[in-house]
Amino acid sequence: MSIIALAGSPSPRSRSSALLRYAIQRLRSRGLGVVELGLRDIPAEALIEGHYSGAGATALRARVAAADAVLISTPVYKASFSGALKTVLDLLDEKAFAGKTLLPIASGGSPAHLLALEYGLKPVLSALGARHILTGVYATDKQVRVDDDSSVHIDEEVRGRLAESVDRLAEQVLPRGAMAHEAYDLGRLALAGGFSV
Ligand SMILES: Cc1cc2nc3c(=O)[nH]c(=O)nc-3n(C[C@H](O)[C@H](O)[C@H](O)COP(=O)(O)O)c2cc1C
Repeated sequence: MSIIALAGSPSPRSRSSALLRYAIQRLRSRGLGVVELGLRDIPAEALIEGHYSGAGATALRARVAAADAVLISTPVYKASFSGALKTVLDLLDEKAFAGKTLLPIASGGSPAHLLALEYGLKPVLSALGARHILTGVYATDKQVRVDDDSSVHIDEEVRGRLAESVDRLAEQVLPRGAMAHEAYDLGRLALAGGFSV
């Protein structure tokens, strides 16, 4: 069982990546392994020149193929997902997301672009074979802050939505029977304040 988390923002102090990391932290607290992948982990040449058969793209495809679930985060750019993320998706196999559970995450400046996940990203994920896409999580810039010292502040309401979607994802990838045990452990962790960012 493996999960891959793909961060699609070019920003070094990325809000959408901060949301993604919150989700990763919650999954790891449940003992789930998550491989993190950012734009800078893929050779720039492979992305810009679309080197489908290069080593970077081959390694990327192998990682995605091995995953049961994929989290994808992106900023909203020009009312859609980032072009940089598209260069990554363009290196994947035609049906790379078939049989996998997907969780899209996005941040945007405007609450009006909440639907960018629905009409921008989700059709592309579907074209790549995804048939099980969980309710995405969208936050505005007012709801996520990344300070100069890289400390992250996420609005409580957003954290709640993220936690809900992440738990749905965990339910999909954890074997039956593990959930009862997980729920017990999560209750203890929450009581200990383990989910604050
Ligand atoms: C080139 C560019 C285009 C943007 N276009 C939009 C947009 O169309 N709608 C929107 O709500 N926010 C837009 N924004 C704001 C970003 O989506 C927002 O700041 C987001 O949280 C950035 O995420 P990141 O920090 O992960 O890169 C744009 C920002 C940039 C730099």
